[in-house]
Amino acid sequence: MHGWAVAHDGEPGPLLRECLEAAVLAPSIFNTQPWRFRPTSAGVDVLADRGRRVGVIDEYGRELLISVGAAVFNLRVAMLARGRQAVLSLLPDGPHAERVACVRAGARVAGSDTVAALARAIPRRRTNRRPFADVPVERWMIDELVRAAEAEGAELTVADLDARGAVLEVVRFAERRWRAQPNYLAALEWWTRCDIGRLDGVPPEAYGPWSAAERMPLRDFGLVHPLRKRAVERFEDTSTIAVLSTRTDGPEAWLRGGQALERVLLTATVRGLATTPLTQPLEIPALRALVCGPGTTRHPQAIIRIGYGPPCAPSPRRPLAEVLLR
Ligand SMILES: Cc1cc2nc3c(=O)[nH]c(=O)nc-3n(C[C@H](O)[C@H](O)[C@H](O)COP(=O)(O)O)c2cc1C
Repeated sequence: MHGWAVAHDGEPGPLLRECLEAAVLAPSIFNTQPWRFRPTSAGVDVLADRGRRVGVIDEYGRELLISVGAAVFNLRVAMLARGRQAVLSLLPDGPHAERVACVRAGARVAGSDTVAALARAIPRRRTNRRPFADVPVERWMIDELVRAAEAEGAELTVADLDARGAVLEVVRFAERRWRAQPNYLAALEWWTRCDIGRLDGVPPEAYGPWSAAERMPLRDFGLVHPLRKRAVERFEDTSTIAVLSTRTDGPEAWLRGGQALERVLLTATVRGLATTPLTQPLEIPALRALVCGPGTTRHPQAIIRIGYGPPCAPSPRRPLAEVLLR
């Protein structure tokens, strides 16, 4: 079977399989991995696995589709890096259907250095919840991240010192609100329960230490299953805080926003930068409206912390066999 073909039994050829293996390395809300892939003669159907939605924080499936969008971006980059155009069709069956995208390996193309670097970053990208160094990110790198978001039709707005404090204050407030809600704690309990052999959810190695004086209001994944030896560490003052936003809102904007998010995270990885999405206030409508500031028509899709971080542990992934439909 040649590299891109799909066998009668739905088995993808080796090149297509490599691309799907890249897709499942995408970030996802609570590491829910809410995607499925169906290789067909017309391309790969990408399906949203709505049974994996974290309902309490994601009533409309916005973060679920952002996660699927991130997987679509990996799939596209992996195809391009293997010399084929990635022909994308979003929501081919309408906004509420199970199939949310179709990606086809199109004409041959010469891969660029940028694409090759992004593809190499896919297995190296992590959500880093450890303290970052007190070293500001250089301007040219930030400009590159802004262009990465733009290339996917989104906007990355980097907070100045005042806005940084204000955004983190809203994140802190949202985190406290969530911590006080029993149904949030129940969802957290499920997605952080570390059953042996479990390959989804957030594992203890990825929680990171407590932030002294809650200076950096990361989402606390260790709230329900606390670690016995969790260190308290001082978090940085100088990480970059940026807001990724789209012009419209709704399923298509979420899928596009997810692709932009992953492009920004991978571009940061290429430059040796660590990243953490912080999305607690975007899950509370009244707070989401505050994040882009008054009078704006933009729709925030993610808040990202960017800086220089120490190495951190990877989170597990379900094997491709579990998400491949034949
Ligand atoms: C839409 C979205 C929202 C997320 N929100 C948060 C968050 O608020 N806090 C956090 O620490 N990680 C957040 N993450 C990161 C996921 O928890 C992470 O991608 C997942 O656990 C897999 O780990 P990895 O990114 O290291 O592969 C988010 C990811 C996505 C795609």
